[in-house]
Amino acid sequence: MATANNPRKILVTSALPYANGSIHLGHLVEYIQTDIWVRFHKMQGHQVHYVCADDTHGTPIMLRAEKEGITPETLIANVHKEHSADFSEFLVQFDNYYSTNAPENKELSQSIYKKLKAAGKISTKTIEQFYDPVKNMFLPDRFIKGECPKCHAKDQYGDSCEVCGATYNPTELINAYSAVSGAAPVRKETEHYFFKLSECELFLKDWTRSGTLQGEAANKMGEWFENGLNDWDISRDAPYFGFEIPDAPGKYFYVWLDAPIGYMASFKKLCADKGLDFDEYWEKDSQTELYHFIGKDILYFHALFWPATLEFSGHRKPTQIFAHGFLTVNGEKMSKSRGTFITARSYLDHIKNPEYLRYYYAAKLNSTMEDIDLSLEDFVARVNSDLVGKYINIASRTAGFINKRFEGLLNPSANNAVVSEIKASANVIAESYAAREYGKALREIMRLADLANGFVADKAPWVMAKQEGQDAALQEVCSDALEMFRLLTLYLKPVLPKLAGEIEQFLNIAPLSWDAVATSLLSQHRINAYEHLITRVDGKQIEAMTEANKENLQATPTPAPHSQQRHAEHQQAASAELAEAEYISIDDFTKVDLRIAKIVNAEHVEGAEKLLKLSLDIGEDKPRQVFAGIKSAYDPATLIGRLTVMVANLAPRKMKFGMSEGMVLAASDERGGPFILSPDVGAAAGMKVK
Ligand code: MSP
Ligand code: ZN
Repeated sequence: MATANNPRKILVTSALPYANGSIHLGHLVEYIQTDIWVRFHKMQGHQVHYVCADDTHGTPIMLRAEKEGITPETLIANVHKEHSADFSEFLVQFDNYYSTNAPENKELSQSIYKKLKAAGKISTKTIEQFYDPVKNMFLPDRFIKGECPKCHAKDQYGDSCEVCGATYNPTELINAYSAVSGAAPVRKETEHYFFKLSECELFLKDWTRSGTLQGEAANKMGEWFENGLNDWDISRDAPYFGFEIPDAPGKYFYVWLDAPIGYMASFKKLCADKGLDFDEYWEKDSQTELYHFIGKDILYFHALFWPATLEFSGHRKPTQIFAHGFLTVNGEKMSKSRGTFITARSYLDHIKNPEYLRYYYAAKLNSTMEDIDLSLEDFVARVNSDLVGKYINIASRTAGFINKRFEGLLNPSANNAVVSEIKASANVIAESYAAREYGKALREIMRLADLANGFVADKAPWVMAKQEGQDAALQEVCSDALEMFRLLTLYLKPVLPKLAGEIEQFLNIAPLSWDAVATSLLSQHRINAYEHLITRVDGKQIEAMTEANKENLQATPTPAPHSQQRHAEHQQAASAELAEAEYISIDDFTKVDLRIAKIVNAEHVEGAEKLLKLSLDIGEDKPRQVFAGIKSAYDPATLIGRLTVMVANLAPRKMKFGMSEGMVLAASDERGGPFILSPDVGAAAGMKVK
């Protein structure tokens, strides 16, 4: 049992978020869950280190940087800033937030690889992979698209069909094309490096049974063992943004090899900064504790690859893996069209207070892998009724009397039954936090808040305040209520650290640690003036947030009524004047060179609201670059590979974002669009439209 002089030494991680996207409310389930656990254990006096990092390597990040015309290093530096700000504003307090693209990680990854190799756990094998002959690179499955072999939906990914749900090999796609260049991929041989996971089965079976996993996770592992473990492909060919494999020119570590090692690297940096002993935490027989919080989708990596990597490179294994479920919003998967794919930033912009979300998630979280639902209506109701109506209410109904009538001085009773009952729950609440049963902890805390409110309602200090000779009783009741409030604040502090800090100020007390349960607010202790601590959430803020997150599916914003009218009047006048000029001659028409174009690439244009950048193959030696105002109707990825019609002899125009070398034909009116035109079967890129 650890004591204050001999605290437990605990290293905690959350999964490393990919550096190619923003933090959203789904991610926050995990970071908030972990942060609460860490704060709770720190309050208990243990030595806890919480580290994380951006996961920066791999093909998607490399290609995104290329599209944006920046280096991957610049891209990940920008994202690191954005992620760090998001986490800190949500009060997720890492002891170090690092990057996998760091010298410590390179060194650790390479040395671990060498140890695995020395242990005979690395093999090589020549495999056949899809290759983009235009871009000269091997293609991950996600970057191969084509027609679904089952339902014939177009433009499906290489591993599964989003229309019918079928899964398959990229080889089964009909008319496969590279999502990078649009070219038809070819098959090409290449030598890959493998970690011999198949040889780790006995070790893993043993490790799995040692209480390291939740029940559901252990069952999942059982299924994987039944199907047999395959060797793990840990190499990727250049070009790849990552670390080179020692003595293997042109070969890089697959991102999932160096990502979990990023946990170690982030901690190594912390050790250097704080003078901690890295080896004490990672050596084979380490006496410290190591916990990984992850989502259920990455269990395979953390429960198979990671412990095997650690074991056969001579390191300690995780004490436990804590997997959580996925977030749904209003009972459904987060969705861009419903406006429920909400980024951390958008929440902060609209709702402002991060502790509402922390409270709501905590109320919903338990120790299982079940999904958790953010019902936006319930969110408003729960935050308002629990935090404002129950908890803060205790102080707002009593503090004023102490401040106004007793110069801020307290005089609590020697023995209050409700205070005793609140104190008696400390262990139950602590056990719930430690077991990640936060919902259970908060239910108990709210039960206690109800008791406190019952006490205040019963004594009715506002009535006492109007009666003669009730001063001492009034001071005692309000002092006792504030003691209850202090205890509830202590219990809620892992979830609401900022609010707790403000309340410590108001109560004029030292930062609350868990053992402050045993202390009390003393007679003659002076509190500070009570200031408004929290405001209700308004349903309108939620509406504004989901509206702002709805992907605009309408082409042109509907103009305001009066401008619409003006527009119509203007058109009438103009058409009367120009009646004669309404026809063009056949000569005029033949001047327009219309061609069938194949969209070989389509992408967003940074800073452009309506434009997509298209690369159009019309049979010339180089595709044409055209900026088209069709962003509102299309996800660019779905356009790649399609045929459309373009004006090929429009004079090139220099636009803010680059040259536009033509125009695509599209249809639109107030019902929607612009929708690009598609030619019929048989048409091919470059054909003239006659
Ligand atoms: N980069 C990997 C993890 C490497 S760890 C060595 C990764 N990144 S991620 O950005 O996709 O996800 C980061 C964490 O957030 C994962 O644990 C993932 O399960 C979690 N979540 C991402 N979306 C989520 C929801 N919608 N709901 C709950 N958790 C989710 O995976
Ligand atoms: Zn399909």
